[in-house]
Amino acid sequence: PKSLVHIGDYDKEDILRILESAKTFKENPNRDLLQRKVCATLFFEPSTRTRLSFETAVNRLRGRIIGFSDAATSSSSKGESLKDTIMMVSNYADLIIMRHYLEGSARYASEISPVPIINAGDGSNQHPTQTLLDLFTIYETQGTLENRTITIVGDLKYGRAVHSLIQGLSHFHPSFNFVAPEELQIPEKYKTFCEEKGIPYKMFSDFSPETINMADILYMTRVQKERFTDLMEYEKVKNVYVLRNIMLKDSKETLKVLHPLPRVKEIDQDVDTNPKAYYFQQAKNGMFVRQAVICDLLGLDVD
Ligand code: CP
Repeated sequence: PKSLVHIGDYDKEDILRILESAKTFKENPNRDLLQRKVCATLFFEPSTRTRLSFETAVNRLRGRIIGFSDAATSSSSKGESLKDTIMMVSNYADLIIMRHYLEGSARYASEISPVPIINAGDGSNQHPTQTLLDLFTIYETQGTLENRTITIVGDLKYGRAVHSLIQGLSHFHPSFNFVAPEELQIPEKYKTFCEEKGIPYKMFSDFSPETINMADILYMTRVQKERFTDLMEYEKVKNVYVLRNIMLKDSKETLKVLHPLPRVKEIDQDVDTNPKAYYFQQAKNGMFVRQAVICDLLGLDVD
């Protein structure tokens, strides 16, 4: 079966089809498309938005949800392997949505599963449905996905939402500004990816007015504490960049501030009431995009 593990599993045409379909779900999210379908959510790592938006997506389409949000309550805590967990749950469900701390876990699951797998985040690697909702939001706010300048700030090393976003946007002629402390700068493989695709990028260690004022989208990210093996290293970089309302004063009229959330302190709460802040609307779009992906992978006609 077709799965969505990496944003590259969808080509440009697939992405545009999902965004189009998500738009119809935003107009009407309550439909009977998943009657007699069971979807499983297997979350080996914490989540608020991703799991609850997937589950709401299924509920609003009249499907049923099974699963766990705390691996400690599953038999993986007794030592059951991921392989056996996937083989078991695929006996019960028509589709599996999984988040796991190991990079490559969702790909592995997709290779052994008789039902589609949706990767809801695998370690620092990929978060493809986050990217689809980010693209939906960029289109919604900019009226186009083409030729946007995206300033991405924070943890570019461990941020899976960042890694997927760079690849998802690559179809649409972006320019990137990567703002991060040296320890958290964008990994070589994503620089190489941009170079091979002819995508311009610049790297900054200062979160300067220039990086904000040239952007169409300011994409803030959290420093991913859970990926650090040495918490002293986390302490050094945890609050390195904080966006405050005053810093948006000379930004483009059409700028939107996005964040995959959760935030810790990297966006001051005084930004929330600025019309340029769009991260809560962005998160809301997740449900519509996820309805579109679920229906796509189950081969359901949404027209
Ligand atoms: N953006 C995101 O993945 O949020 P959660 O960790 O709350 O699911």
